[in-house]
Amino acid sequence: MMTDWMTLDQKYILPTYGRMPIVVKKAEGMYIIDENDDKYLDLFSGLAVNVLGHCHPQLLEEMQYQSSQFGHISNFFYNKPAIALAEKLVKATFEGKIYFANSGAESTEAALKYIHKYSKDKNTKGVVVFKNSFHGRTLGALKLTRMEKVQQDFPTPDFPVYELEKEDLAQLEKVFQQHAPAALLFEPVFGSGGVQVVSTEFIEGARALCDAYDVLLCMDEIQTGIGRTGKMFAYQHTSITPDILLFAKGVGGGLSLGGILVAEKIADYFKPGDHGTTFAPNSIASALGSKTIEILQEGILEKSEEMSQYLRGELQRLKEDYPEIIGEIRGKGLMIGVVILKNHEVLNNEFVKRGILVNVTNVNILRLLPSLIINKEEIDTFIDSFTDIIKDW
Ligand SMILES: Cc1ncc(COP(=O)(O)O)c(C=O)c1O
Repeated sequence: MMTDWMTLDQKYILPTYGRMPIVVKKAEGMYIIDENDDKYLDLFSGLAVNVLGHCHPQLLEEMQYQSSQFGHISNFFYNKPAIALAEKLVKATFEGKIYFANSGAESTEAALKYIHKYSKDKNTKGVVVFKNSFHGRTLGALKLTRMEKVQQDFPTPDFPVYELEKEDLAQLEKVFQQHAPAALLFEPVFGSGGVQVVSTEFIEGARALCDAYDVLLCMDEIQTGIGRTGKMFAYQHTSITPDILLFAKGVGGGLSLGGILVAEKIADYFKPGDHGTTFAPNSIASALGSKTIEILQEGILEKSEEMSQYLRGELQRLKEDYPEIIGEIRGKGLMIGVVILKNHEVLNNEFVKRGILVNVTNVNILRLLPSLIINKEEIDTFIDSFTDIIKDW
């Protein structure tokens, strides 16, 4: 008799997630295969983690090699794969120093502690964030996550948070003048908040204001980083450099890893004992992270940009044919949001029925976060199914 994994899940695992009716048996490249041997085209890659798809052969090789050398060793020793990854990340971004964590929320927590240390001997305090932003679910991060459904009434630590309604540099300056916050934190493209791209004009203007008022500019690139938007990090579409860069998701090549990169000029605010974690940086995750960056730099980033253009073009065509169903198409690189104007509840299931896995976020935004190895045929398969669904709607 086949094990009923869905029933066992309900019995033994707290129900914090609504799951798709798929018990995964195997995953490879762009595909997930379930217990019934049904094959699904995966268009959200483990929520933007599997940048190079599932079980990439070079990552498997790297995993095998590093696990045969050493796995977890703790922070009492020099960890070669972690040092090599830190160097790669710095070289791909800006001069500075890294603190490694295990997840996105932990990266936000590290940033919060860093901001606190930095601002202690200045007369600044608190963080400015955007309404509708998502920075994680641990209690510190949750205070910065401005989505009611997520924040609810959980208790949060006692530091001031100022919420920006929208991109408005005049309003931002007013907040800086009135409250003297220590930091501004935002996602260059809102992820869970509905794939909203923050304009270059705002990002560059915010950089100038942060410089003028001695406010740290912190970018949450947990979702947008590691090639997702067509550059290694999304801030690289602009002329600015942040003071603190938050990363996670794809940085461990599919394993749990995150962290912050702090610009060199402010990199001496954490001292031994100020922060820490038992697990990060895991050596295997670090080795996979380095390999992922290498592979991306060997041409996948450029190719992913081509695929992004193609996919957006096809979506645009669908929008022109069905303007009553498809609204705005937005995003950057292979982080794409499609506003659905009609009864979106059916969408996920309709795609699953056709062997395609998508994500719907912020109520009615179809969010596409495919691995960067997606090809034209796979995009065509998605567009054909989407057309099919729309015709029957
Ligand atoms: C922009 C952003 N920040 C923070 C997080 C939290 O990361 P994690 O789920 O790894 O804690 C996420 C996760 O989706 C995210 O997209």
